[in-house]
Amino acid sequence: MEDSYQLVTKTAAGLEEVLAAEIKALGAKNVRLLHRAVLCEGNKELMYRINYTVRTALKVLKPFKTFYAKSEDQLYKQAQEIHWFELLTTDQTFAIDAVVSGNFFTHSQYAALRLKDAIVDQFRDVYGIRPSINTLNPDLRINLHIRQDKVQILFDSSGESLHKRGYRKQVDKAPMNEVLAAGLIQLSGWQADCNFIDCMCGSGTLPIEAAMFAMNIPAGYYRNRWGFMKWPDYDEALWLRIKEEADSRICDFDHEIWASDRSAKAVAIAESNLAYAHLSHDIHLMKKNMEDLTPPEGRGILIFNPPYGDRLEEDDIDQVYESIGNTLKHNFKGFQCWLITDDAVALKHVGLKPSEKIPVWNGPLECRFVRFDIFEGSYKDMKAKNAGNDTED
Ligand SMILES: C[S@@+](CC[C@H](N)C(=O)[O-])C[C@H]1O[C@@H](n2cnc3c(N)ncnc32)[C@H](O)[C@@H]1O
Repeated sequence: MEDSYQLVTKTAAGLEEVLAAEIKALGAKNVRLLHRAVLCEGNKELMYRINYTVRTALKVLKPFKTFYAKSEDQLYKQAQEIHWFELLTTDQTFAIDAVVSGNFFTHSQYAALRLKDAIVDQFRDVYGIRPSINTLNPDLRINLHIRQDKVQILFDSSGESLHKRGYRKQVDKAPMNEVLAAGLIQLSGWQADCNFIDCMCGSGTLPIEAAMFAMNIPAGYYRNRWGFMKWPDYDEALWLRIKEEADSRICDFDHEIWASDRSAKAVAIAESNLAYAHLSHDIHLMKKNMEDLTPPEGRGILIFNPPYGDRLEEDDIDQVYESIGNTLKHNFKGFQCWLITDDAVALKHVGLKPSEKIPVWNGPLECRFVRFDIFEGSYKDMKAKNAGNDTED
């Protein structure tokens, strides 16, 4: 591959394999899994494609320099060797995100500060003025990774984290990260080949991500800014070609997507997010208790995010999960049902045997993404049917 380098794409813990599959589908070579990240061989074109289309990517980092240092002073000296004025102008801004581990560097903030000093001192010496720091919306976001004495400087091509898709203008309490929602949908194995339902939709994240997945709407469709757009080598023609190609694959979806919540406030928020994403006609939104929901006819998958991690909000969380179990058994026969929770004790109150439990992290919370297959008829009927099939074989 011409002009190739090793791209680092970050994701949430538990979604590494989904991310790797998405990146491989773009034709990337030498894809390798790390903890919360995936490495691949790439170039500018692939970097732009991941930024625009990959649903489980949080950040795409381009390695810039690797050197060795055992102290902050060595870091400063080595960083001064870099020609920063080829990368930044005096009226631009920058920010540094640092992660350090090992024996030589123990304070990420201090390492970041020394790198910042190296950059601004170089500008001051040459021009008498220096670029400023802007941590919220910098022109250049620099990642400093130090492991033992190995120092890596990478540039953040995404800018603002890619989970900020741009469609969520408002959120209700405990909104799910968009990248996690997209990851759960892919972990469930849903191929957009049957109906999709979220019966506790809150701000609407899961149904919006489901619609985007089903209709091939690129992950970055509602965004208009990426970090690489401020880089000196930004290739606008290439970017527009990649965008047009991805947008031309947007298609209709033949099944139904339903979203509901018992809270009027949540439904109003979801409604405004759906409208912003131009998906009001594609997602059927209702204010309803899960217990009163009769799902659409035909095969379907239910993916939802019940309350958890905020026990105080619910009077009796065990009772919430018991009611979930009863509703799944009675209203969702024939459905594949998935829920995410960090509450192993409450989960037992569902009273159904999970057929799969996948570890995923919702920010700092270690959760399980749990699958229940709700069979038509009783469990006894199902066992009898399976026994019948066994004898036929
Ligand atoms: C953790 S939030 C869901 C967040 C959502 N995934 C998002 O991204 O915004 C849980 C939601 O479940 C809803 N809920 C709780 N019990 C419910 C029930 N029995 N029926 C319907 N909705 C319920 C709450 O109103 C709340 O909006």
